[in-house]
Amino acid sequence: MTGPNKNIKFPLENYDRLCFLKNIIKNPNIIVGDYTYYDDFENVENFEKNVKYHFDFVGDKLIIGKFCMIASDVKFIMNGANHLTNSLTTYPFAIFGNGWENAMEGKSYPQKGNINIGNDVWIGYNATIMAGVTIGDGAIIATNSTVIKDVEPYSIVGGNPAKEIKKRFPKETISKLLELKWWNWDIEKITKNIKNLTGSEIEKIIE
Ligand SMILES: CC(C)(COP(=O)(O)OP(=O)(O)OC[C@H]1O[C@@H](n2cnc3c(N)ncnc32)[C@H](O)[C@@H]1OP(=O)(O)O)[C@@H](O)C(=O)NCCC(=O)NCCS
Repeated sequence: MTGPNKNIKFPLENYDRLCFLKNIIKNPNIIVGDYTYYDDFENVENFEKNVKYHFDFVGDKLIIGKFCMIASDVKFIMNGANHLTNSLTTYPFAIFGNGWENAMEGKSYPQKGNINIGNDVWIGYNATIMAGVTIGDGAIIATNSTVIKDVEPYSIVGGNPAKEIKKRFPKETISKLLELKWWNWDIEKITKNIKNLTGSEIEKIIE
């Protein structure tokens, strides 16, 4: 046995509100790794609706690693949401034309970059992730957090703005996990190790 088929939409029998996310994504600027799942109270199609202000003409990407867990109502605010912040007004005159089209000449809206989510990241219910943020492998984002800054691997963050609550493991364990990168192993090796991966003793991992 080597676990579920990563290429199917709905890995749980008779249940269509949890999906292997990469298999339902239509937007080429959203890139998702194997086994990352999304669970939605109503309909998994809500995922893409919750990637907000994501415009093709901006071209920014939402990149999510493998084995992530994403809860209902998680939102990603992409760069299309940005107005000027260092100008006297944030009002976007140019989009309305009619003599206002030159308002943005020589200026551009702030671009904070892609959103990068690592591997084995758990994003709790109703969290919001802002443009430009990188979330490290193994991180946990607490329910209702608004993440505006990068999140260190294997840390738990919470609140608005999200702050580090604690690290999940001692430094040495985190280094070892980041070296192991178990999510890149072949599926036979992962399957052989699932009891160890769901335990807390890293020395028990079978290489
Ligand atoms: C973060 C979380 C995993 C708790 O982790 P934990 O290790 O058990 O942490 P504790 O409950 O002991 O709380 C530790 C600290 O984090 C804080 N904290 C917990 N949840 C928080 C949240 N959502 N926002 C802000 N701070 C939070 C606690 O207040 C506590 O602070 P303190 O140390 O100053 O007292 C949990 O609160 C959470 O948000 N889980 C996500 C659940 C979810 O959304 N699931 C979706 C379905 S998969």
